[in-house]
Amino acid sequence: MKILLADYIYTPEGYLTNHAVAFSNIIKDIDTLENLQAKYPEVEMLTSEPNTVLYPGFINTHVHLEFSANKTSLKYGSFMPWLDSVIEHREDLVAACDNEMMQEECETMLRSGITTFGAISSFGNELEVCEKTPQRVVFFNELIGSNAQYADMLYGDFMERVEASMSCEEASRITPAVAIHSPYAVHPIILQKAVNVAKKHSLPLSAHFLESQAERQWLEEGEGAFKSFFKTFFNTEVPVTNIQEFMYAFDTYPTHFTHAVQANQVELDYLAQQGHSIAHCPRSNRYLGCGRLPIENLKLPFTIATDGLSSNDSLSIFDELRAALMLHHQAPIGPLASKLIDAVTSDAADILGLNVGKIEKGKLADFTLITLKETPKREEEIALWTLLHTKEASAIYIDGEKYI
Ligand code: BEZ
Ligand code: FE2
Repeated sequence: MKILLADYIYTPEGYLTNHAVAFSNIIKDIDTLENLQAKYPEVEMLTSEPNTVLYPGFINTHVHLEFSANKTSLKYGSFMPWLDSVIEHREDLVAACDNEMMQEECETMLRSGITTFGAISSFGNELEVCEKTPQRVVFFNELIGSNAQYADMLYGDFMERVEASMSCEEASRITPAVAIHSPYAVHPIILQKAVNVAKKHSLPLSAHFLESQAERQWLEEGEGAFKSFFKTFFNTEVPVTNIQEFMYAFDTYPTHFTHAVQANQVELDYLAQQGHSIAHCPRSNRYLGCGRLPIENLKLPFTIATDGLSSNDSLSIFDELRAALMLHHQAPIGPLASKLIDAVTSDAADILGLNVGKIEKGKLADFTLITLKETPKREEEIALWTLLHTKEASAIYIDGEKYI
């Protein structure tokens, strides 16, 4: 057991001052230092620098580690040219991305305060790195394949990866999970089988959904930039599903949909009614020319996520949160900063079904400490100063153990 003291502690009741947290691998108590020391004499005392804020560990719900080698290979600016460039460079990029590179990116995430991430995995290549990294990892085994002819083979490969991630659950901080690539790239028959696997084993479930205008046009009309893409690479000319059929496949099982930038109000209302959530990736959406998700109108829970280095310039959650502040320039900046902190802590934890994300008795002891340059003059601005001034966390605890 340890007691950790910080000038500010971010709890569901707001920023507490003159308080400390007592914890082992879980949070035991939050009280004044005097009360905690009286209750738990002779436990290890940990202090932090002046102006430090203790947050629950930050959560990045959506990242593709296997594309970490991309710097200038992929074409940014518009979705379809980007997807063409992914097809062209995919093999080289995946081959250039070894364990050392992925491990470095896990460390970048850790230094930026990320204690849990959702790894979207197409091939299972990241499993070893995700087993070794100190962070909790929700390991999203991704199903891809629109061609019915290869569906059984692709589904078989997917199930092998699901089982491999299930078998390392005990020895690591991995939670096995299922990801559906997207409506345009997954045949409805294997899609339904994969959703049933998630339901049967109560695994977190995620899917890319309505990322681009081109995707919407393809699913609605079978036209647009995807038409020549499918003709060229897959020798097909009709979409395998439509927006409604895809959405309905997830009915009754809360799913984390990534992007949804091009979803209309009726679709967003349907997702909300079904208990789903959204992973919002502001830099990825901007870099691929996909548009802005109007988060100010969302009636469903959302997180802020980095996506992969295939559509980003860093995996730092602070870089992403600052980008969100800029992209959503209409929103009052202070309340938006507070909402963004909740999006990457309590909301993300609820969405992934993990017992983290809040400084509260009984939660797992995952903490991100950040140190402000000066004493904040107004409590309501702590979230904003946190986002604007932090490049790296000053300390990180996972399961009560210090990693930074
Ligand atoms: C497919 O496997 O069907 C697919 C993969 C990437 C983009 C589009 C479709
Ligand atoms: Fe993604």
